[in-house]
Amino acid sequence: MQRIINKLFSKVSIILRTTKVFNKPTSAIFEMSNKCNLICPLCSTGGLKNQFKHIQRGIMSFDIFKAGLDKLLPEVSSILLYNWGEPFLNKNVFQCIEYAYKHNVKTLLSTNMMLYSEEIGKKLIKAGLSKLIVSCDGLTQETYGKYRREGNLNKIIDSVNNIIGLKKELQSEIPFIEMQCVVFKFNENEMEEYEKFWRAQGVDSINFIRMSYMSKLGKDISRRLDLVPIHNEYQPYHPYGIVKKCMELYNHVTIDWNGDWYTCCFPSGEKEYRVGNIVTDDFWGIWNGENYRYCRRLLKKQKSEGQYCETMCHDCTGIYPKKETKRFWE
Ligand SMILES: C[S@@+](CC[C@H](N)C(=O)[O-])C[C@H]1O[C@@H](n2cnc3c(N)ncnc32)[C@H](O)[C@@H]1O
Ligand code: SF4
Repeated sequence: MQRIINKLFSKVSIILRTTKVFNKPTSAIFEMSNKCNLICPLCSTGGLKNQFKHIQRGIMSFDIFKAGLDKLLPEVSSILLYNWGEPFLNKNVFQCIEYAYKHNVKTLLSTNMMLYSEEIGKKLIKAGLSKLIVSCDGLTQETYGKYRREGNLNKIIDSVNNIIGLKKELQSEIPFIEMQCVVFKFNENEMEEYEKFWRAQGVDSINFIRMSYMSKLGKDISRRLDLVPIHNEYQPYHPYGIVKKCMELYNHVTIDWNGDWYTCCFPSGEKEYRVGNIVTDDFWGIWNGENYRYCRRLLKKQKSEGQYCETMCHDCTGIYPKKETKRFWE
């Protein structure tokens, strides 16, 4: 009941685009780890790690996770256990899933699958993971390896088959298993075969998604590596400068591995965009604090007023009130 009322309040806030809100977030990101074992060329955790040396890296402790989730309960109904890194690098992930499950919160996890083992599969099922998203961007090692550098396609195939088998053995409906393929130029001709192959393996769904440049630098790299597909439907997505409405400011929070709180997934780890810390700060003090109120006003009026705040919203809306504002995209 509390969740239904909370959702209603959030809908009203979104419609009216209020500056203050009375609901709590319905979803959240909890970054299990912002480190990675692969070197995908557009990713700030992988191939571009050296350009993002200023990002403090680590893994989330169960205590930080619990303290953070407790502040969002009982209203929050689903959480993502990944943002910019590989969640299986964090051994606390199973305890976090179990805790969320006990509180009837859905958990989603995206992984490159390289660290998977049967033991991990059993733990995921036992803990009650709702959805496992497997990142796999190709049907052959040659195509797959173009983006997932140092990744091994056979390892993915064996691992996915293993967890499908474990689900049957343990008579578990969850986790829902989704194969996710970022559509690049090198794999766009494989889509039909990809779908056939993974359907035959018995996965629950297949999702082709649009690539993102991830950063300005990523745009240049994408051109250099000829990554951009020809297919119209899968042209690269980037929100910079075009956003008129944003739900995230009303129903979502992003929590970094150390508890640092960001308005959305993009700037996580970029300290100047941090709005607070979920563990040490008062929840309502941040959620309706000066920074959030500034961002909600900025989106509503499409111009900036009042005390200036550093925020990613400047980049998304393309509205820069101060010339010296740091531009994430440009
Ligand atoms: C940064 S990854 C972190 C989770 C995990 N390491 C993984 O790759 O699944 C988060 C999501 O971004 C996706 N991703 C990676 N590079 C992308 C790109 N250039 N465009 C769109 N999505 C991308 C991944 O497939 C994954 O689902
Ligand atoms: S596997 Fe995920 S986190 Fe790792 S480099 Fe690739 S996209 Fe980034």
